[in-house]
Amino acid sequence: MRVLVIGASGLLGRVLLEEWHFDEVSGVSSQDGDLRSAEDMRKLLIRYQPACTVLAAAYTDVDGCEKDPQRAHEVNCLGPVNVALAARGIGSRLVFLSSDYVFDGSKTTPYTPEDRVSPINVYGRAKAEAEQRIQQILPECCVVRTSWLFGAVGRCFPNTILQLAETRRDLSVVNDQRGCPTWNRDLARAVIHLAQSGARGIVHVTNQGDCTWYEFAKALVNTAGLEDTNISPVSTAEFPRPARRPAFSVLSKAGLEAHGIAMRPWRDTLPLYEDERQRHVASSRSVVSPGEA
Ligand SMILES: NC(=O)c1ccc[n+]([C@@H]2O[C@H](COP(=O)([O-])OP(=O)(O)OC[C@H]3O[C@@H](n4cnc5c(N)ncnc54)[C@H](OP(=O)(O)O)[C@@H]3O)[C@@H](O)[C@H]2O)c1
Repeated sequence: MRVLVIGASGLLGRVLLEEWHFDEVSGVSSQDGDLRSAEDMRKLLIRYQPACTVLAAAYTDVDGCEKDPQRAHEVNCLGPVNVALAARGIGSRLVFLSSDYVFDGSKTTPYTPEDRVSPINVYGRAKAEAEQRIQQILPECCVVRTSWLFGAVGRCFPNTILQLAETRRDLSVVNDQRGCPTWNRDLARAVIHLAQSGARGIVHVTNQGDCTWYEFAKALVNTAGLEDTNISPVSTAEFPRPARRPAFSVLSKAGLEAHGIAMRPWRDTLPLYEDERQRHVASSRSVVSPGEA
């Protein structure tokens, strides 16, 4: 199968390319075409002729989206519409990555794919509208909602916490937002399986188990052997951000078994993540630019 990954330089896209075997996979980033341009997306898909397109590109800065709602709408809603129209034009299937932030967090039990979306921030609204519009264009498409994505290379909560923990003894982390951390390599393997099996409809993919950001941070510093760092729990009210976040965005994985996918607990992925992170940090340090020599 010929596959095109849009967003190949991102946290997920990069490992999708590394984990994908047995198919002919190409990856593109914003340098190859802007999601906001229907013409760019049409040309890309005509050029690559994928049987399956995976849309992992997005404007993922949730607070940035709040400050620039027009860009958020253009990239995260009109962008997917452009890709869906281009995919329909060449007969490509589409797997679209979406988010737990399509929910408002008022539930106390895990959100199922059938639950009504009700986003409370600009990023979530754009994602929710994109989901609806691409399903109208391509009823056979697959929408994969995930949450709290992390990986060794790229911008994510664990990389930030561990960088801070190396230089600061005291950190404060929010303890009243609950969700499911998702290791990018486990998500990538699940997405590949869904793409190869021709899955359709909305699927929730995260690692098993849930926690608060505070609990996540504690587990991260323990795994990294940075126990000297003191982490204090704080409330969202004490740490205001431009975008509201749902207090509870745990996604139910009840439907995953039917797709033949079993996700492991998020805690089990931390040593693997930390090992890869350490190797990445070491390799970045060993690169000496001519100016430093
Ligand atoms: N990160 C999370 O915690 C999280 C949680 C839930 C859902 N998701 C969803 O999961 C998917 C993957 O997220 P991620 O964290 O891997 O994203 P990421 O690391 O922020 O990467 C974003 C990717 O999108 C590309 N991109 C951004 N703007 C673009 C534009 N205008 N035109 C074309 N390409 C553009 C970037 O290309 P350049 O590098 O060239 O800019 C990059 O390849 C996204 O759909 C995201 O919404 C993420």
